[in-house]
Amino acid sequence: MKEKKFQFSYKVFKNSDELIEDDAALLQQARKVTKKAYAPYSRFHVACAARLENGRTVIGTNQENASYPVTICAERTLLAAVGTQYADEPIETLAISYHPLDGESKHPISPCGMCRQALTEYEKRSGKPIRLILSGMEGPVYVIDSAKDLLPLAFSDDDLA
Ligand code: THU
Repeated sequence: MKEKKFQFSYKVFKNSDELIEDDAALLQQARKVTKKAYAPYSRFHVACAARLENGRTVIGTNQENASYPVTICAERTLLAAVGTQYADEPIETLAISYHPLDGESKHPISPCGMCRQALTEYEKRSGKPIRLILSGMEGPVYVIDSAKDLLPLAFSDDDLA
């Protein structure tokens, strides 16, 4: 028997003032775009903004549906847009924020499991890691080097026979 360990490190900033200018601007854009979410059922607005290697910025928000499972998270809305408009273009950095209409937004949230799977596949497809900036509308900011760090032992196309 062998025991293996998975570890990853990430950076924690006190707030967005501590970020470099480009990162602060991208996070600010994600925060602003929370207004565009369509989330009448959960009232939990999520938004993300991606800076691509080609310099373009793409945004995404959660899009809900009365048939709840039809809902698409902000991250996968964004990936569908990037994959369509700029197929395989690396995403350098993705900032994610949220605004719950009935609550506070003072701590970072991180992508759900399904979005981690989708982000990891986009990293593989584009050949570059996606750096994540996670934060609420205020408060601490986490910076993670790669979406892959959030999904150890991920399933991928390598596993398909
Ligand atoms: N949501 C996202 O958009 N991204 C996540 O990573 C977590 C959850 C959305 C889905 C749903 O519309 C609402 O947040 C509440 O779960």
